[in-house]
Amino acid sequence: MDSEPKLSVLFTRDEIAATVSRLAAEIRHDYLDKNPVLIAVLKGSFVFLADLVRQLDFPLEVEFVRLSSYGRGTESSGTVKMAPGALSQIKGRHILVVEDIIDTGLTSAFLLDYLRRRKPASLKFCTLTDKAARRRGPVNIDYRGLAVPDKFIVGYGLDCDERFRNLPDICVLEQ
Ligand code: IMP
Ligand code: MG
Repeated sequence: MDSEPKLSVLFTRDEIAATVSRLAAEIRHDYLDKNPVLIAVLKGSFVFLADLVRQLDFPLEVEFVRLSSYGRGTESSGTVKMAPGALSQIKGRHILVVEDIIDTGLTSAFLLDYLRRRKPASLKFCTLTDKAARRRGPVNIDYRGLAVPDKFIVGYGLDCDERFRNLPDICVLEQ
């Protein structure tokens, strides 16, 4: 039996809430009259998206995509896959991608490229957390939440092998 992993709080629920409010204000300013489509990347972004949209008091739509670059464990496999299943109309819409974390940037680069080819009216990117130290290529972040160190984090939607998504705080998983 493995010993229980050790967790230490990196961002409290209050710090996260303040960050979500700040991002919502920035997004509201830019999208108030644009009826954007917010595309959240499953599974990790579900908590962030749920908190974010409840602070956006203007017309918008929500879509989900399922992408995976991680096998089990904590290292990116380097290739990104998109689960089959249609996204509704992208062409001519204002698209805002909503991510829980950007790490190497491979997932985001893949998704942004996929969406760009479908000719949206505009395409922007929002991430709650940014692990910039591990970036393998440039990704333009329009709305950036919290900078995180080069550690594996869990909670507030983020998992390790499907565990810990339900933690209200963001914690470092000490390995
Ligand atoms: P990227 O393609 O390396 O930028 O990684 C993107 C995906 O890897 C994220 O959307 C997460 O699902 C996962 N990921 C990367 N770093 C972490 C972490 O520290 N904790 C939990 N998931 C992570
Ligand atoms: Mg994710």
